Amino acid sequence: MAREKQIQTAGESAIVPRHIAIILDGNGRWAKKRGLPRTAGHAVGAETFRKIALYCRDIGVDYLTVYAFSTENWNRPEEEVRTIMRLLNKYLHEAIDTMERDRMKMRVFGDVEGLPAELQALVAKTNEISRRYEGFQANICLNYGGRAEIVRAAERYAEDRLAGTAPEKLTEEQFSQYLWSSGIPEPDLLIRPGGEQRLSNFLLWQCAYAEFYFTDTLWPDFTPAELDRAIEEFRRRDRRYGKV
Ligand code: FPP
Repeated sequence: MAREKQIQTAGESAIVPRHIAIILDGNGRWAKKRGLPRTAGHAVGAETFRKIALYCRDIGVDYLTVYAFSTENWNRPEEEVRTIMRLLNKYLHEAIDTMERDRMKMRVFGDVEGLPAELQALVAKTNEISRRYEGFQANICLNYGGRAEIVRAAERYAEDRLAGTAPEKLTEEQFSQYLWSSGIPEPDLLIRPGGEQRLSNFLLWQCAYAEFYFTDTLWPDFTPAELDRAIEEFRRRDRRYGKV
């Protein structure tokens, strides 16, 4: 179950969510408002991700998980999909050069085998670097769907059962080890910018007890100050986990 951690900030003690999840939404509208192509919104959105990830690291968050590309996003115009893949390529290349300096680990959740070959190689490389040290971790959901993740986990469990390596009775904890997020604590706070108030097939299993924060701010305009507001709101919530 999700737990927040108590850290010291500027001499006073404050609760910081251990794991924050964000649905990156509003890039297209941000660009349209400025008379720019949607792809320009994705480019600025990728920069915003970099800024927010470093800010999360600096304030003591341990994990940031973002929804960057869903299994449904392949249905977008070809040029837009190509641009998003190009941006991810660029981002992962740069991350490989700076991960150690930035003390940032990375993991991809999703069906990596369905990604272009070059991107798959970059994902493998970032995984390899991440194994070398401890620190803040960014998880990028690519070619990801929450239901697909659960179905795949069930299939993998069934395989292990047939092989005789998995128990007959399964706990939630054991099942969660078959998910792409295996070994990572559940998100404490889920943020959705862009004005919509839904989960869109994101981390369905993992967000069972997450606090939700919605804002009309479009993702490219999202700032550390807005993240602070979300965390402030999170601190005011009363997390009961089904108890009184
Ligand atoms: C949602 O906005 C955004 C996406 C589907 C793509 C997000 C991808 C990036 C920011 C590129 C690279 C990412 C990383 C993590 C380096 P939308 O297009 O649905 O916006 P709209 O709702 O305004 O149309």
